[in-house]
Amino acid sequence: MSAPRLLVVTGSTRPSRKGPAVAAWVEREALRHGGFDVETVDLAALALPLMDEPHHPKLGRYEHEHTRAWSAVVDRADAVVLVVPEYNHSYPATVKHAGASLHREWADKAVGLVSYGGASSGLRAAAALKPVLTCLRMVPAVEAVSAPFFEQFLDDDGTFVPNEVLATSVVAMLDEVARLTAALVHLRRAGTT
Ligand SMILES: Cc1cc2nc3c(=O)[nH]c(=O)nc-3n(C[C@H](O)[C@H](O)[C@H](O)COP(=O)(O)O)c2cc1C
Repeated sequence: MSAPRLLVVTGSTRPSRKGPAVAAWVEREALRHGGFDVETVDLAALALPLMDEPHHPKLGRYEHEHTRAWSAVVDRADAVVLVVPEYNHSYPATVKHAGASLHREWADKAVGLVSYGGASSGLRAAAALKPVLTCLRMVPAVEAVSAPFFEQFLDDDGTFVPNEVLATSVVAMLDEVARLTAALVHLRRAGTT
């Protein structure tokens, strides 16, 4: 049996963003974990036009190729890790939009959260995101990663170098996402939504 497919999403899209360094670390850890086939997606590269589909995503009647392509990416994932910064005490609009562009594709999938920011470690972004994710029938892992003053973990080359707490918490998050993913397999097969 093949390993579940984990989609690691880079949630920030600013031209000067630091998110890709955090996401690259998460991808390395997911590969090292060994429990998943890992795929990545960068919302900046995806560049979904803002809310340009006429029908409710619940219907899956997408009129644009970019939405169909995004649908296919999420559909083939068994689980998701979202890498999100905190903007104004919440999560970026890009993450809300990418989520709300689809519906059924997210259902019954475990989701791990990796947040980063200043003193708050991006925790307010992660907390604000959870009700949105559960509305999409995703199952957030309690174990999560939150990086405080995250730029301290960027070396001179811009590579994210975690401390021991972060290194431990990313493994715990991935373990829990793997556990939930195995438990949710029947719901995903049944296609409950
Ligand atoms: C519009 C905006 C709002 C921000 N608001 C917060 C915030 O509320 N809390 C926080 O810890 N950091 C905040 N920051 C700082 C970000 O954590 C930091 O800029 C980080 O690099 C953003 O991630 P990105 O580079 O991947 O876009 C904010 C940054 C921006 C651009």
